[in-house]
Amino acid sequence: MGFALSGQNITATRTMGYGVIAKLLHWSMAVLILISLCAIEFKDLFPKGALRHAVVAWHFQMGLCVLLLIGVRIAWRIRNPAPPILPSLSKIQSLMAKMAHAVLYAMMLILPVLGILARQSRGDDVEFLGHVLPAFLDEDSGLPYALKIKSIHTYLGDVLMWLIAMHVLVAIFHHMVLRDNTLRRMLP
Ligand code: HEM
Ligand code: HEM
Repeated sequence: MGFALSGQNITATRTMGYGVIAKLLHWSMAVLILISLCAIEFKDLFPKGALRHAVVAWHFQMGLCVLLLIGVRIAWRIRNPAPPILPSLSKIQSLMAKMAHAVLYAMMLILPVLGILARQSRGDDVEFLGHVLPAFLDEDSGLPYALKIKSIHTYLGDVLMWLIAMHVLVAIFHHMVLRDNTLRRMLP
């Protein structure tokens, strides 16, 4: 009996959770974003020169991977609704969760684009996977905006860090205090 029940539970957990692709996208992008953020936040710990340059390049490359994946992720999400949270949330709670997730998706799209523009507006090439990306701005057209773009990118990047911290705390709150399946649905 005990065996049958745990078997049922395993099936139930599997069918109630996010799908493999959604989980893969969520966790791989979470890692990419965290590496990108750590690289840029801790770059000053590295001596000026080739090493710091490489650390900053990691910020760019991880950020560009996020941009590559976010299109796939949004397209996948549109076709695959989120599994239900049990016990279910109030209307206001699920509305807040939807809004918070929409902001996270928007950030994952806007930040790398602003990052690219921040570089290109100073006349720097942006390379990804061995290719130089097309320049939407060059030094002539971009320089007057370079500082503005960089500060918007930096500001939104800082906002994203706070949002991620809240996102993680809310997930832990659901798991430990509300004791619903919010977190379990997303665990690998
Ligand atoms: C998920 C994507 C990204 C996030 C979350 C992000 C976040 C950030 C943050 C928080 C900072 C400010 C660090 C600080 O000084 O406190 C920053 C700086 C910067 N980012 Fe990004 N970024 C992303 C992608 C990119 C991409 C794709 C590029 C360019 C290819 C880029 C270019 C830059 C540049 C040029 C700076 C200024 C660096 C400096 O002051 O030395 N970012 N980014
Ligand atoms: C590192 C720790 C993280 C944990 C523990 C975590 C946990 C979770 C959980 C439990 C969910 C399901 C929430 C729900 O359905 O209401 C979720 C969804 C989501 N997470 Fe995270 N997450 C983490 C990092 C991140 C990062 C870094 C981002 C990107 C900025 C992110 C973006 C999202 C988005 C957009 C969703 C919504 C999925 C959907 O459309 O249904 N997460 N996360």
